[in-house]
Amino acid sequence: MSEVDLEAKIPNNVGLRDNKRLMKALETWQPAFLDWWKDMGPSDFNEDQIYLRTAVGVGKGGWAHFDYVKMPEYRWGIFLAEGPEDRKIHFGDHLGENAWKEVPGEMRNRLRRLIVTQGDTEPASVEQQRLLGKTAPSLYDLRNLFQVNVEEGRHLWAMVYLLHTYFGKDGREEAEALLQRHSGDEDNPRILEAFNNPIETWVDFFCFTTFTDRDGKYQLAALAESAFDPLARSTQFMLTEEAFHMQTGENGVGRILHRTAEIEKEGKDPRKEGAVPFDIMQKYINFWASASMDLFGGEDSTNAAESFAMGLKGRYREGDGIYSDPRALEQSYKAEIPTPEGKLEEKEIPLRRAMNALLLDSYVQDCKRITMRWNRDLEKLGTDFRVVFPSKRFNRKQGIYAGHFYDPEGNPVTEEEWKAKQGDWLPTDADRAYVKSLMHPVYEKGKIANWISPPPTGVNGQPFDFEYVKFH
Ligand SMILES: [Fe+2]
Ligand SMILES: [Fe+2]
Repeated sequence: MSEVDLEAKIPNNVGLRDNKRLMKALETWQPAFLDWWKDMGPSDFNEDQIYLRTAVGVGKGGWAHFDYVKMPEYRWGIFLAEGPEDRKIHFGDHLGENAWKEVPGEMRNRLRRLIVTQGDTEPASVEQQRLLGKTAPSLYDLRNLFQVNVEEGRHLWAMVYLLHTYFGKDGREEAEALLQRHSGDEDNPRILEAFNNPIETWVDFFCFTTFTDRDGKYQLAALAESAFDPLARSTQFMLTEEAFHMQTGENGVGRILHRTAEIEKEGKDPRKEGAVPFDIMQKYINFWASASMDLFGGEDSTNAAESFAMGLKGRYREGDGIYSDPRALEQSYKAEIPTPEGKLEEKEIPLRRAMNALLLDSYVQDCKRITMRWNRDLEKLGTDFRVVFPSKRFNRKQGIYAGHFYDPEGNPVTEEEWKAKQGDWLPTDADRAYVKSLMHPVYEKGKIANWISPPPTGVNGQPFDFEYVKFH
């Protein structure tokens, strides 16, 4: 493990100083990244001073530093988590062999595709969120948005480092293409669909960071088990930053619900008060939860089986020894598969082919825990409304349930019923227009928009009324 070098042009703990060729390649990519940031990132705020955390090391205590920084001057670094030199592969066909420090030839294409697909989501979300800075409900939220944005930028760096270091010319070309595809671009869109959906409002942003960043957590967690050691350590460190993104989402949705509950308790109509009614919140949650579940890929997948067999992608927390069969050859997964008549039939999928389904199940459990936390707060406030996490069959565009119709509880419905009820389950144009009408910037220190509660605590021990952004 190399020392942390914070003085370098690109801060890192991967020994860039001793690898001149790599350093040059990355220093050539850096201006392209900055151009992309200035064009496609939160460009209206490039001159402002934002109170941001910057990763400066990987040690357990104090890996980050907080200070004011202009975003284009953010120190995007390359950091690998610490790990044992002699790590062994702990699942799949190569169980017990030494983890790889280089890419085995036969895994090259698959591994590159995994890294590119992950890498593509990072700048995509910055592009999706680029206009939100114009309508943040408070300086605290504005700062959190930018924190998420710069860290997604760093995650892109993490993947570009792997491409440049281990994939030669192909890797360099892929690294450039990561800056050329754009979210929602008709000719050259981002790879995964949820990353082409616009994030128009802060309600979308908080749902996205709750549900879509959480998909990211599970994908990163599966890669963090990888037999390819640099990928495992890279994604392990990304997970420490990812936790904040998900917290931003969970707290954001929770604060909106909290505010609506308060207004109802006062006997007032949330809509008249300019807050977000519960039914609209539930529809946004249904939309982003289902779009995010699509990111897990097919429940029955030979592709997923191969990635597991090769040791590229493990199960959630595979390394904690919580699975009885690290080769996953003996068991099967029970799935409810739709018949052509639209009924559900239980079918066993050999476990290796069900890796996406397993990862999705871990995700759903996690999401239900979050939902429970929101509901506990609603209960305390004395409201009857409870958030329901939608069934994994609801509104799916990918996987075994795509092309079939289910209500949010997962009951089969006809296409006619779906069409008639869709507006009760997913945001309508009118809902979106209403939510949009609430989005106005509140940039006075300590003030906040009426549709959301202030957070219980500020950032890094600072109070809510701290000057999180100093405008130029
Ligand atoms: Fe990320
Ligand atoms: Fe994230």
